[in-house]
Order: sequence, then structure tokens, then C-alpha cells
Amino acid sequence: MNAIEISKNIYWTGVKDWNLREFHGYATPHGSTYNSYLIVDDKIALIDGAKQYLSAEQIARIKSVTDLSKMTYIIVNHVEMDHSGNIPELMKLAPQAKIVTNAAGKMALEAHFDTTGWNFQIIKTGDTLSLGKHTLEFMTTPMLHWPDSMMTYVKEDKILLSNDGFGQHYATDSIWVKDVPLDLICQEAKSYYANILFPYGAQAEKALNTAGQLELDIEMIAPSHGCIWSGKEEVGKILGLYAKWASGQNEGKAVIVYDTMWGATAKLAETAMAVLQDAGIPTVKHCLSVKNVSEVMVDFLDAKYVLIGSPTLNNQLFPRVAGFVTYMHGLQPKNKKALAFGSYGWKGGVTAYIQKVYEDLGWQTVPPFEQKYTPKSDVLAQMAERVRELIKLS
Ligand code: FEO
Repeated sequence: MNAIEISKNIYWTGVKDWNLREFHGYATPHGSTYNSYLIVDDKIALIDGAKQYLSAEQIARIKSVTDLSKMTYIIVNHVEMDHSGNIPELMKLAPQAKIVTNAAGKMALEAHFDTTGWNFQIIKTGDTLSLGKHTLEFMTTPMLHWPDSMMTYVKEDKILLSNDGFGQHYATDSIWVKDVPLDLICQEAKSYYANILFPYGAQAEKALNTAGQLELDIEMIAPSHGCIWSGKEEVGKILGLYAKWASGQNEGKAVIVYDTMWGATAKLAETAMAVLQDAGIPTVKHCLSVKNVSEVMVDFLDAKYVLIGSPTLNNQLFPRVAGFVTYMHGLQPKNKKALAFGSYGWKGGVTAYIQKVYEDLGWQTVPPFEQKYTPKSDVLAQMAERVRELIKLS
């Protein structure tokens, strides 16, 4: 349970949640970590807590470096429970510590916990806090991922403690990106962005601009989930990826998402795939009976075209499709061209629900395509023509 020194007198004191397989709907096949960091100086600061059920492990790591009674500050970068669930326990062990957070962070802590007797120091972007040899500079990053989110920059060591930003749900034996295949860790960072931060591209762009205005020279990004980006090359890589994802720029791909009961909607999906591929458009096809919604959402970052298909069950969308559409709607992907399709037995119309979501998201669409029972070759030809209309949208 020892802490790990990541720079002189700066320690990783996080915990690994090896068995986590789901994070409010987001599948996490590699588990996750809740990283926190301890800076030992004339004044000692802990940056971020952990999930309550892993509190003992985090406290053991802190104690491997210092007694909690010596901590001067607990910096709360984000109040979601994966980072603050054990703050009340930490405050019992370190009642002398001052909580450093922004105004929204204080409000959120007060809404979650009994904060009676806690001392707060409220900061805003650009404020600094000297620990002795280390200077902390703060940057609020609202909505990355909650209104209270912020990042803490350690000036002398050029380390950005970025909390949710640049994180990955990934638990491994190392704490460093360099020890994991880069493609794998970038894919996990992409999945994290797609499933957690997708709605907040404008805020992500603003945060990147603010970091530029503050002239932060970053040599290490230490997030609160997953592995640490170390060195200019790794830092440049993840900053570049975030700039691309936040801009809404896509790869011109197509993503087909569907489910099927007796194969009719699957046949429409296969027809759509053939047309898209024949047009030279890289296309992926996800059947929701075997794919988790979070796995599917990663492809939305690359997609120019979206085609969602549903069978009709008791006059409603098929439940797995309805669940996906609701999840996707909340993540608010932008600038897509879309087609809703599906099949029915005796009463059609369910594609109207999908179409309404497309319209709510402001996407360009072609009319929905629905088929009664099993589509024959003439119907598949009509479906193919509708997909060609989709491709022609400018
Ligand atoms: Fe990792 Fe928004 O909490």
C-alpha cells in the first residue's frame, strides 16, 4: 500500500478498482482507478479523494508518506463520488485541513455531506497557492465533468492534475501510459471522452484555450482515472486528441446501430452497410444484442453518418434500441447525417421516435424507412436508394 513518487515529493496515492465493470451505464472491462496525489512541502496538500469503499487503501498510501494530521490542504478538484466519496472520512482524520475548491465545489460538497466545521478556501481560475517550494495554480473547468470540476497545475514540476479530463477507465499494474500500448490507452481515453465528456466539447475547447492563456507549460498530465501521460510526446498526443474530439471534427465514417427480432431489421442494416461500403465510406455495424451502448458511442466520434434501426415490439421501439437512443441523445453528438429505419408486423411508426431525437439534435436527415415483416428484394432496393439519398446530403 505504498505511495509512488511521480516527481520529487509528489506522490500518487490513488486506488485501483480492479473489479469495476460498469460506471453508471458505461461498460468498464478494464476496471478503473481513482487517482489522488500528495504533495509534501512546508505545507502538505492532498489532491482529490477516492470512492468511499476504497478509502482504507487510499489512507494507507497517504500514511506511507505522512500522518494525516500534518496535512494542510485537501484540494477537491471534483465532487462526484468517485473522487469525493471519502472526503468526510479524510476530514475526520485531518480536521485541521482546509478544503480548497471553487464556489461550485463548495456548494456541491455542502449538498452531499455534513460540512459542519470544515474550513474552505475558495479559488477561481488563475489563483495560486504556495506550499513552500511548490506553487499550485488553479483552473476551473466547468462541465468537465460537473459544474464544480477544476484542474490543479503544479508550476515548478509542470504537472497538470486534471481530474476527469484526459482520464481513462483502465486499471493495470503500472500508473504510467508508457507501460501500456499507446493505441490501447488512446482508445480508452477516446471511450472515456465519448461516454463522459461528449456533450461538453465547447467547454473542453475553452479549457484548452484557458490553459494556453495561462501559459501552462505541461510536461505531465496526471488524471484521476487511469494512467499518467508523461513527457512532451505523450502530453502532446492526448492534448491533440482532445482538441480534435472537442472540435466535433469527424473521420467521415458511418455507424449503423440496430437490433433485430426475426432478422428483418438486420437485413435492412446489411443492405445499408453494403451501400455505404460500395460508396467507399468506412462503416461499422453494431447489433445491440451483443454490444454495450458505451462501446457503440466511441464510433460516434468518427461518424459523419448515423443509421439507427429498430424492430417494433408491442407498438414501441425495441427496448434495447430505446435505451441506446436515450443514452446517445444525452451525449448530444453534433453534425451528423442520419437515417432511421426499422420493421414491424401490423402497425408501424416507431421510427418516428428515432427521427424526433435526430431532429432534436439538429442533425440532417432523410425520411425514415420502415418495412412490414420480412423485406424482399424490391424493398431492399428501396432501402438502398434511401441510403444513397443519405449519402447525397451535402
Ligand atoms: Fe470521475 Fe465525474 O467523476
